[in-house]
Amino acid sequence: MNQYFTNNENLKSDIKTIQFNIFDETYFLYSDNGVFSKDGVDYGTRLLLETLPMSNMKGKVLDVGCGYGPIGLTVKRRTNCEVDMVDVNLRALHLTELSATKNKLNVNVYESDAYTNVEGTYNCIITNPPIRAGKKKVYEILIGAYDYLKNDGSLWFVMRKDQGVKSTLKDIENYYNLSIESKKKGFFVVCATKKVKSVDKAWYVW
Ligand SMILES: C[S@@+](CC[C@H](N)C(=O)[O-])C[C@H]1O[C@@H](n2cnc3c(N)ncnc32)[C@H](O)[C@@H]1O
Repeated sequence: MNQYFTNNENLKSDIKTIQFNIFDETYFLYSDNGVFSKDGVDYGTRLLLETLPMSNMKGKVLDVGCGYGPIGLTVKRRTNCEVDMVDVNLRALHLTELSATKNKLNVNVYESDAYTNVEGTYNCIITNPPIRAGKKKVYEILIGAYDYLKNDGSLWFVMRKDQGVKSTLKDIENYYNLSIESKKKGFFVVCATKKVKSVDKAWYVW
């Protein structure tokens, strides 16, 4: 079965544009077969964007699993942040690049399996994680964010109740202080800030 996170060159391409209206602005996004939520921006993604504290966001932002780009491109338009966007799906990355050009937004788009090609640290990491890729991969993205966040950085993600958000929160609570920032139609938007490891604390005292 073709999944939105696999690269299948045999899957017929049928690029179309989607109009995404949010915050009284319209984005023209390119979509295609073989990408997540190809017919329109996912409700969870919208809720995540509506919940992000964009007026306070600064520095560097990473959109992990950017798909065809709604999160990173909206953040780029509404903040002064430097935005990096990664995915494993090459078709999705190509669509993000097309959409960035179409909407005149300057973002860095590149292939990465979770953080394998990511360097440096970020003020904010944002993801609507690939649930269908399995729990191991989702945790690689959520827990893996710890090492790519600045100490005062935050990870924002959206997950549905029936996708196991409650158990996920339990499983990541050793790494992060967690707060549920919005809840609608079964979707939870979570903000996770780093619990500084005792070894890091010792370093500060030193
Ligand atoms: C739920 S979709 C979200 C897409 C987009 N951010 C949105 O909100 O519409 C998850 C995305 O994660 C990507 N993905 C799957 N496995 C990945 C991995 N190992 N590393 C990075 N991205 C991955 C998928 O290709 C997909 O685009």
